[in-house]
Amino acid sequence: MNILLIGSGGREHALAWKLAASPSCDKLFIAPGNPGTATLGENIALDVSNHAAVTDFCRAHDVGLVVVGPEAPLVAGLVDDLAAAGIKAFGPRSAAAQLEGSKGFTKELCAEYAIPTAAFARFEDLAAARAYVRKKGAPIVIKADGLAAGKGVVVAETLPQAEDALDMMFGGGLGQAGAAVVVEEFMSGEEASVFAITDGKSFIPFGDAQDHKRVFDGDRGPNTGGMGAYSPAPVVTAEVHQQIMDRIIAPTVAGMAARGTPYVGVLYAGVILTAEGPKLIEYNARFGDPECQVLMLRFRGDLVQVMLAAIDGRLDALPPEQLAWSDEAALTVVMAADGYPGAVQAGSVIRGVDAAGGPDVMVFHAGTKTVDGALTAAGGRVLAVTARGATVTEAQRRAYEAVDRIDWPQGFCRRDIGYRAVARERQAD
Ligand code: AMP
Ligand code: GLY
Repeated sequence: MNILLIGSGGREHALAWKLAASPSCDKLFIAPGNPGTATLGENIALDVSNHAAVTDFCRAHDVGLVVVGPEAPLVAGLVDDLAAAGIKAFGPRSAAAQLEGSKGFTKELCAEYAIPTAAFARFEDLAAARAYVRKKGAPIVIKADGLAAGKGVVVAETLPQAEDALDMMFGGGLGQAGAAVVVEEFMSGEEASVFAITDGKSFIPFGDAQDHKRVFDGDRGPNTGGMGAYSPAPVVTAEVHQQIMDRIIAPTVAGMAARGTPYVGVLYAGVILTAEGPKLIEYNARFGDPECQVLMLRFRGDLVQVMLAAIDGRLDALPPEQLAWSDEAALTVVMAADGYPGAVQAGSVIRGVDAAGGPDVMVFHAGTKTVDGALTAAGGRVLAVTARGATVTEAQRRAYEAVDRIDWPQGFCRRDIGYRAVARERQAD
């Protein structure tokens, strides 16, 4: 079967690697892809916002499965339009992608189905939002309702910070995404990313991970898309995992089906483990980046068969070998261009990437570009150096050894990815 993967980040290089390894994959196309995906299939230029063009490409190249990496095409209804043309596509339809596309939508679903999450209120008016924030006090969390590329959340430690965030969002600082704002109770606890693949009726757990969102060591500095991750997350014990499945994932899948907008695809729950148990922070309608990179290093099943079973509504009939996971841990370190998450300069040359990989190490590309035969930086997050190991500690050591083999003076990375898990492993010794 020919497969078309949409996206160009480290997540997509990891997905491409797993899809290409499936016995069911004949030819893999990636739109637009990156130099890493080019080693696994054919990168193509395709305007993915033009759904008719994507449909035409699939027909012309006999594509039997489309895999959508990022959220924007999901929210825009690419899967709806492909399905209408009879083309199988993995990912939720537009109405179901609202779980990521609208925080207010998710909050209302949580309220209707008693899914544990922060108390909240949604506002379309600055004066009312300001009055509510003053009544509640700080710390408090201000979120743009729409998609804001990870920049739409302000955890305000003081009331003036909260009011500044409201002014910025209602003042158009995030464009249309801030036309409505959700104000949330501040929750405290350790965070984890938990994944499930669903066919609209049933679901299978699909691993867990811990991301590192802040740009600098010790979780300091501004939020980013993610500077590193590891899987599994020891903080998600078997008991906690079961609670997340029973109290968060199961009612979401059932609720979306009951509303007539079944969710098909990967459901990524950002959870926080509070003193009262796990609570949902947010949903994403896609794999996490860089969480996907560590999940793919651990997943031993057949990703193509899992995705097709989800689309066809027969997840519960999948043979166990198509769902196998390695017991090993995986850890990924993101190498970013100096200045990230602010402005970065493109074009610096990166050496040593091919030699840095090995049997337990994959260097996934994100923002890279080949210029005159040289690998160069072409984005904020540039590489995701990902390693397997018997423990998180071992995976961490291998990942940083590989990082140190890469010669890129204009890049940086956090040196403490996995620190919580490494401390737990040390304690357990
Ligand atoms: P989000 O984009 O919704 O994942 O939020 C980004 C980050 O803001 C999360 O990973 C949390 O660290 C933090 N955050 C969001 N909502 C809350 C909340 N209600 N309480 C505490 N922290 C939060
Ligand atoms: N790593 C966080 C995300 O993909 O949203």
